[in-house]
Amino acid sequence: MKPQISPTIAHMRAQIAAWRKAGARVGLIPTMGALHEGHLSLVRAIRARGEKAVVSIFVNPAQFAPNEDFDRYPRTFETDCAKLSGLADLVFAPSVKEMYPDGFSTKIEVGGPGVGLETDFRPHFFAGVATVVAKLLIAAMPDTAIFGEKDYQQLLVIKRLNADLGLPVEILGGPIVREADGLAMSSRNAYLSAAERKIAGQMNVILRAVAARVNKGDEIGAAEQAGRDALLEAGFNSVDYVAVRDAETLAPVTSLSRRARVLAAARIGATRLIDNMAVASVL
Ligand code: PAF
Repeated sequence: MKPQISPTIAHMRAQIAAWRKAGARVGLIPTMGALHEGHLSLVRAIRARGEKAVVSIFVNPAQFAPNEDFDRYPRTFETDCAKLSGLADLVFAPSVKEMYPDGFSTKIEVGGPGVGLETDFRPHFFAGVATVVAKLLIAAMPDTAIFGEKDYQQLLVIKRLNADLGLPVEILGGPIVREADGLAMSSRNAYLSAAERKIAGQMNVILRAVAARVNKGDEIGAAEQAGRDALLEAGFNSVDYVAVRDAETLAPVTSLSRRARVLAAARIGATRLIDNMAVASVL
C-alpha cells in the first residue's frame, strides 16, 4: 500500500495524534529523499520495533552553502514513494515555505560533537541540520527517530541536540549499508562517473587499513597520514580529513583505551564523499 502523504505539519500531526489515540508508537526517519537501501534499512528498523514509520522527505536548503549542490541534489519523489510502498505509513513532504515560513530567523548551533571535522570544511552544515531536525522532531514528536551511521558526526550532533533540548525522543543510529565493493551507500554516489565510482570504492578499503594499523598498535597520527596519502594515490583529488576519534565525543584520541572510530571526507571531481567505521570492528 502507498504511504499517505502529508504536505503540512498540521496534516501530519493530525494523523500521528489519531495513531497515538489508538495506542500506536511512532518512529521518524528524516531523509532528503533520493532513497536507497540505506534509508530503507532505517524504515525497516522502525517497523521491526512495531512503530508506525513516518519518513520525511525534505531537501533542506539551510544545510547547503551557496556553492554546494542544493540545486542539483537528486529529487526523485515519485520513485521514493514507490520504494516506500508497503514499508512506510506516512511520508511528510513539506515545502520550503512550510518549514521556513516568511521571517524565519531561528538557528540552532550545537557545540561538543558539532565542532571540528565536517565543520572545518562545511561551517554552515550542522546549524542547518540541527535546525531542521529540531523542527522535524517537534513537528512529529515521535517516540523514536533514526539516522544512518554513515553521517556519524551528524548522528552525534542530533543526539546532543535531542538531549540538550530535553526532547522525549529516543535517537537511534542504523548501521551503514554498503555496495558490493564496500562503498557506503549515499544519494551523492549518483553524481559519480564510472571511473569516479571505481575510485570511490577504495575509500572503505583505505579506512579499513587505517583501522587495522591502529588496532595493531601503530601511532595514530601516522596511520591517519597513511590514510590521507592512500586516498590521493587511489585518485581522490583532495582529502578533507582522515581522523581517528573517540566514538562518543569525537575528541582526538592518542590510544585505544576508549571506543574509537575512523572518519574520512574526500573529494573526487565535484563530489564529496564521507565514510567511517569502528576501529575495533576489524579485530
Ligand atoms: O542525513 C540527511 O539526509 C539530512 O542531513 C537530514 C538528517 C535528513 C536533515 O536534513
